[in-house]
Amino acid sequence: MRIGVLTGGGDCPGLNAVIRAVVRKGEGVYGHDFVGFRDGWKGPLEGVTMPLDIAATRGILPRGGTILGSSRTNPLKVDGGVDRITANLASLGVDALIAIGGEDTLGVATALAAGGLPVVGVPKTIDNDLGATDYTFGFDTAVQIAVDAIDRLHTTAESHHRVLIVEVMGRHAGWIALHSGLAGGANVILIPERPFDIEQVCDYIEHRFASHYSPIVVVAEGATPAEGTMALAAGELDAFGHVRLGGIGSVLANEIETRTGKEARATVLGHVQRGGTPTAYDRVLATRFGLHAIDAVHEGESGVMVALRGTDIVRVPLQDATRDLKTVPLERYAEVEVFFG
Ligand code: F6P
Repeated sequence: MRIGVLTGGGDCPGLNAVIRAVVRKGEGVYGHDFVGFRDGWKGPLEGVTMPLDIAATRGILPRGGTILGSSRTNPLKVDGGVDRITANLASLGVDALIAIGGEDTLGVATALAAGGLPVVGVPKTIDNDLGATDYTFGFDTAVQIAVDAIDRLHTTAESHHRVLIVEVMGRHAGWIALHSGLAGGANVILIPERPFDIEQVCDYIEHRFASHYSPIVVVAEGATPAEGTMALAAGELDAFGHVRLGGIGSVLANEIETRTGKEARATVLGHVQRGGTPTAYDRVLATRFGLHAIDAVHEGESGVMVALRGTDIVRVPLQDATRDLKTVPLERYAEVEVFFG
């Protein structure tokens, strides 16, 4: 078989570990050969490829990013996009595709599989918000990076008696904020699932100062104030119609300074959370996903995604991957509120 591999959407640590496992087992055990598609769906859409064999994947296990490149190209929004992909795959002799991506990339994979193209999906996102899998790789690394930053911010916050606000990624789901805030001993954690009350945030901050500690606020980029309490500027949209976020941290810093009279500074972790080497946990999860994805393709499966359930890797229908966004349940958030203030 000739199998195409692509990585789409925001990159995350562990993508190369998946690619390596797919190719290592696919070529070494099953004798298949591979075509690497460049830059997400742009590769099959424009027929842009790179060689992908065991030699090309040597040494990439600990490397962040993706050797294939990534993009947020959406072929469903391009006139004749699906036909162009079908024609390019046919002319390259590609029998099946492995698409490694999040909600958007797998949404395209679902549409192509429904149209008869053999596609197997692998879930990835630092946001950990795909409903069909317990965890996605990249999340553990992003949380660790955020915790390292929070640990450092504690000491400088104490020296200057300041409020330090750490803005982390998470458009619709506050998993990174919740886990990094809990592990980093944040004073308040703000997530998109639960609009915040700025008065209460300021009460927590004052309470923290009263006990002679400086507060750390961890805020997910998609967190919003309760209606009518604070104004936020609207952002631009990307090809999948998502608002480009970023900025809630500095809005909060200004608001907190005005309301409490305490000095406040914001740190936006941004793409630092997506860069660099994956943690051991993410390397193992990504490798297992890759091994199971190539097994699925080899067995002639299509329209499925590999997923983590407990400690097992299972196959689930691709459409399940994108149907429900896995947001933080409010009772999980309530568990950590005991540490606020
Ligand atoms: O979906 C992953 C993610 O890192 C989100 O947490 C974040 O909102 C978004 O990607 C940022 O996208 P971009 O890199 O295109 O700015």
